[in-house]
Amino acid sequence: MNDEAETVPPFIPPGVIPPEEPLPFFHALWKLMDNPIETWPRAVYEEPYFLRGDDRQMFLYAADPSMLRDILLDKAEAFPKDWMFDRVTKPALGEGLLTAQGDHWRWQRRAAAPGFRPDTVAAMTPLMVSAAEAALQRWRDRGDGVRLDIATEMTGITFQVILDTMLSGGDGIDVPVAARMITDYLETLGKITPADLLQWPTWTRVALAPRGYRAMVSLKAMVDRMVAARRKSPSRDDLVEMLMQAKDPETGRQMDDVLLRDNLLTFIGAGHETTALALTWSLYLLGAHPPTAARVREEIARVAGDATITDAHVERLIFTRQVVQEAMRLYPSLPLMSRMCAEDVEAGGLKVTKGTFVFIPIYAIHRHRLLWDQPDVFDPDRFSPERSAGRHRFSYLPFGAGPRVCIGQAFAQTETVAILATLMRGAVLEPDPGHRVRPLMRVSMRPQGGMPMTLRLLTSPA
Ligand code: HEM
Repeated sequence: MNDEAETVPPFIPPGVIPPEEPLPFFHALWKLMDNPIETWPRAVYEEPYFLRGDDRQMFLYAADPSMLRDILLDKAEAFPKDWMFDRVTKPALGEGLLTAQGDHWRWQRRAAAPGFRPDTVAAMTPLMVSAAEAALQRWRDRGDGVRLDIATEMTGITFQVILDTMLSGGDGIDVPVAARMITDYLETLGKITPADLLQWPTWTRVALAPRGYRAMVSLKAMVDRMVAARRKSPSRDDLVEMLMQAKDPETGRQMDDVLLRDNLLTFIGAGHETTALALTWSLYLLGAHPPTAARVREEIARVAGDATITDAHVERLIFTRQVVQEAMRLYPSLPLMSRMCAEDVEAGGLKVTKGTFVFIPIYAIHRHRLLWDQPDVFDPDRFSPERSAGRHRFSYLPFGAGPRVCIGQAFAQTETVAILATLMRGAVLEPDPGHRVRPLMRVSMRPQGGMPMTLRLLTSPA
């Protein structure tokens, strides 16, 4: 599982500095509001697992791949999603695919699966490339040397991609307005608040976050209008149609308008911010490490020449894909998954008691001293086929694993490479030397204050 020694000067991009010991209670509470990932003690990055708590509540941070395999795959039934996750996500996403459990989850997963098959995704590549080309054209119109917030730019592109690919353009959904509402929601109601930690009644979450609540109501209304319009319009070949037609094979049940809306909001929410962040961190790393950027441009020129990027090119952009994989290792869009232990059970040789909160600290697993050589170094070559051979599947979890693995994985992998390749051949993006890059954990891992970068336009494909 260890990688070979480095041969190039190591580039260590900014990361979280963990506390040596668990923080005292009030310090931890304050940190949980500021940047929860900074509460994870060093042991989470160095030990196979880290267990703490008392008779009332135990917390397990699992990093050992065989333990993770038990939790996420082999004994997944004993580790359902937890009440805190429900509390934070269900008000917006109801009983959709991300939040449902058991049979209700299973039939929805089967219903949505055809929309995410590799051949379906490959056919969507032109729409992904078009969204990136449109952004590049906007950048050209603004001119060389402008400062862009790449995080916002990437959100705009990936939101457009979700609407174009999954919702046939998303009639009636105003991208900037909806993107702002999603941000309002994620910054308030979409994150864990003191009301959750202290287990206050759920209505207090809403009372404490009126801006987030208004955003959620408006978003639901926007999608409801779209669903109503689609019910009346002729059928189209997209995910909305697939979900409208899907039938539970056992009960014959179909999705009513509420469940349809919950799922569409799930795909819009889960499908664009995560991908935008993978692109943002990739572009930051490439901007900060010109030798790697030069290799990426050389590969794009060799594979695609001057041609528009296609799914066949994406298949062959091996090094570009490795850069995205490495960006998602260093800055996983979702840095944490959580589960609740539902019965006394053994995981990776450890006895886990019923009621234990189980954290899967993806960010720390990806930088774990026992799993990765020089874990903090940016080194896309660690994902070369030779160096990946023998690596434990459960040491790299940007998309999760097991039955609840991300349904959009293939979609996101194609999208990130297609968009990155399109942007890289048209522009050089230089990080702002005066901006401190700090990974901030909300639900996702965002750069604090966005990602300001200076645009240098390339006149012809490099
Ligand atoms: C780089 C991009 C992405 C990342 C890093 C990512 C990450 C993840 C992770 C870690 C999970 C598992 C959560 C858990 O088990 O607790 C997940 C689930 C999910 N993702 Fe993604 N995702 C990405 C893109 C997408 C896209 C493009 C879509 C849809 C268009 C999507 C839709 C979903 C859904 C619906 C689930 C729930 C699946 C289930 O429970 O059956 N994701 N994602």
